Amino acid sequence: MKKFVSLSALALALALPTFLVARQATGPVSPAILYKPTPRPDRVILTWAADPATTQAVTWRTDETVTKSVAQIIESDAGPKFEPQAQSVDAKTEALSTDLGFTAHYHSVVFRNLKPSTAYSYRVGDGQNWSEWFTFKTASAKAEPFSFIYFGDVQNGIRSLWSRVFRRAYSDHPEAKFFLYAGDLVNRANQDADWAELHEGPGWVNGCTPTIPTPGNHETEKDAEGIYRLSRHWRPEFTLPENGPRGLEETCYTLDYQGVRIISLNSNERHQDQAQWLEGQLKNNPMRWTVVTFHHPVFSSAERRDNPEIRAIWKPIFDKYKVDLVLQGHDHTYARGGLKNVPDHGTMYVVSVSGSKMYDLNPQSWMNRRAEDTQFYQVIRVDKDKLTYEARMASGELYDAFELRKRSGQTNQLVEKTPRTPERRRKAE
Ligand SMILES: [Fe+2]
Repeated sequence: MKKFVSLSALALALALPTFLVARQATGPVSPAILYKPTPRPDRVILTWAADPATTQAVTWRTDETVTKSVAQIIESDAGPKFEPQAQSVDAKTEALSTDLGFTAHYHSVVFRNLKPSTAYSYRVGDGQNWSEWFTFKTASAKAEPFSFIYFGDVQNGIRSLWSRVFRRAYSDHPEAKFFLYAGDLVNRANQDADWAELHEGPGWVNGCTPTIPTPGNHETEKDAEGIYRLSRHWRPEFTLPENGPRGLEETCYTLDYQGVRIISLNSNERHQDQAQWLEGQLKNNPMRWTVVTFHHPVFSSAERRDNPEIRAIWKPIFDKYKVDLVLQGHDHTYARGGLKNVPDHGTMYVVSVSGSKMYDLNPQSWMNRRAEDTQFYQVIRVDKDKLTYEARMASGELYDAFELRKRSGQTNQLVEKTPRTPERRRKAE
């Protein structure tokens, strides 16, 4: 009995300070404190505004005391004494007033006249407060094999549950040349905390491997007149091509990477205008492969969702020009299909999700492989006449795979490589 009492007393003595500390805690740290910018650059992210073989864009954030910013660049060298030889490029600066009560300055530079297939080091800052030196490599000017990673909606659980997906993807595939996001990168278009979390998972990797984003419905918000407008973060956060229809700059655009034409369409608005522009991009397309990305899928994979206007206006153009791959989001499920199952043509359609929000799947005959309740990333590799696709789960395990082979004058040959693992569903049908 004596022993029992002394143990209880000991337990109480140990528990008491913890209890007091817990009571003293003030709750979660406010985003206004956590995400306040400083004069030192953060949210450094590479994108492209022009040819990936000879240019590279970089965007970063500081507080509003930094009004004049610069980026420095030099061909990479393993020695540490290259700094005096680095070339300086003045940045463009724009102010963004945030919901968190502070104004941030976003700075951007497009490095031009770079040599193809060449590694460069760069840093960004104001002359006193600098980022670390980051390294990137320009694309080859020719069609050469490469891979990239595609993410469906990030949107929810960005810091807590999506970061592990990004980190698995990058750790297992550091050779990927860019990250492609099929819309809904954030949940709340104009809330700075969401954008902060989007940068937290990738961290320094965004400074070395470029991002190709397309906007989703969650990158829009109703204005005072009830009209949905693009997030005021979008254009300051990303420096993207302005080669789409007027008014859709940096949301509808195209760029070519080593033999692949990549087209981002803004599925939130003006579908007809983009159809005409798209036709122009596909009619005069010297690239062997074409990948189109946008948010709202041509064939929906979740229940009670359909985008008949997108199917009616854009799909005939994909069919006519035999677009190889369409990468989409929006439905918070996984579904992949086309060629054999979709009449009229050689396009493979994918809907995927990388964040934590999940919907119920609506199983349909066009799907070759499908899943629900699973976070994914996709690794896509292009090598001459062969495109290899893999959908991997948050664990890194393979869930879906296929190859497309180019055949002159015909639609692509599809080779299914799906592993013989059970379909991931919440409950058996
Ligand atoms: Fe979404």
